[in-house]
Amino acid sequence: MKNKLNKIAKDTNLFLKSFIKKQIKTELIPAMNYGLFSGGKKIRSKILIDTGFLFNINYRSLISIGAAIECIHAYSLIHDDLPCMDNDKVRRGKPSTHIKFGESTAVLAGNSLLTMAFEILSDSNLKINEKIKINLIKKLSACSGHLGIAGGQFLDLSFEHKKISKNNIVDMEIKKTGKLFSFCCMAPVIIKKKSIKEIKIFESIGSDIGLLFQIADDLIDHDVSSKTAGKKTKKDEKQGKATLISLLGYKNTIKYRDKIKSKITSNLKKYGRKSKNIIETINYILTRNK
Ligand code: IPE
Ligand code: IPE
Ligand code: MG
Ligand code: MG
Ligand code: MG
Repeated sequence: MKNKLNKIAKDTNLFLKSFIKKQIKTELIPAMNYGLFSGGKKIRSKILIDTGFLFNINYRSLISIGAAIECIHAYSLIHDDLPCMDNDKVRRGKPSTHIKFGESTAVLAGNSLLTMAFEILSDSNLKINEKIKINLIKKLSACSGHLGIAGGQFLDLSFEHKKISKNNIVDMEIKKTGKLFSFCCMAPVIIKKKSIKEIKIFESIGSDIGLLFQIADDLIDHDVSSKTAGKKTKKDEKQGKATLISLLGYKNTIKYRDKIKSKITSNLKKYGRKSKNIIETINYILTRNK
C-alpha cells in the first residue's frame, strides 16, 4: 500500500511540477509549491486511481485529474490553517504556509491553486472528450464551492462551541471532506459514460469514504501526538469543534465508523476482486496515524 501511494505521489508531483514550469514565473509560485509539495499523502489521487481501475481508465489521465484534485486539497489546507479559520501553525511537520509566507500570500496562493485545478482539467493535453471534460469541471466546481468544501468549512466554523445534532455534524463532514472524495469516485464513472444511476452510486460511495476519512482525522486529533501527526493534535476539543467524538463519545464514534466502513465494502462487493485495491486504501485510511 505504502509503495503504491508513494508512486502515485511521485507521479502526481512530477505532473504538477512540469505543469507549473510551463507557466510564466510569479512571486506566488514559491507559496503554491510549498502548499503542494511539502509532503501530503495524495490519498485522494489513490482513491481516484483505485476507482479508475474498476473502470479500466488510463493511468496518465487519472494522474492529471488527480493533480487537479490535489491542487484543490492543498488550497483547502492552506486556508484551513489561517488565523481566521483553525489558526494552525504547523502542517505536515512544517510551518503552515501563512507562517512561512505571510497571510495575504497564503490566501492568494490558495486561490491560485483552486483555479489551477480547472486549468489542468481544461488543458488540451488531457485527452478526454470535451463534453465529458465540461461535466468533470462542473462536478469538481460543485464539490469545491458552497455545497462542498467551502460550505462545509463555513459550517465547521459556525458549529464551534455549539451543541450540534449528529445529522448536522455528518452533513458538515461530508461537505468539507466527503465531496472531494465523491468527485474522486465519480470521475472514472463519468469518463466511462456510465448511467446516471451508476454515477450516483459512486458519488455516494465517495462521500462515505470522505466521511470515514474525516472521522479518522478526528480520531487522530484525539489519539495521536502532534509530532507523529505532523500537525497540532488534541485541539478539536479545545477549539470546541463539533465532531462525532464530542457528541457521541469515543466508543460510539468507533462503532459508527465501523458501520460506515461495512456499508462501503458491501456497496463495492459487486465489483469483485477488482475492488481489492480500493478496500486496501480504505483500511489504510482507518489505520494511519497521520
Ligand atoms: C487533512 O487531509 C485534512 C482533512 C480533510 C482531514 P490529509 O490528511 O489528506 O492531508 P495531507 O495532504 O495528507 O497532508
Ligand atoms: C479540514 O478538516 C477539512 C478541510 C476541508 C481542509 P480539519 O480542520 O480537521 O483538518 P486538519 O486536522 O486541520 O488537517
Ligand atoms: Mg478545519
Ligand atoms: Mg484544521
Ligand atoms: Mg482535523
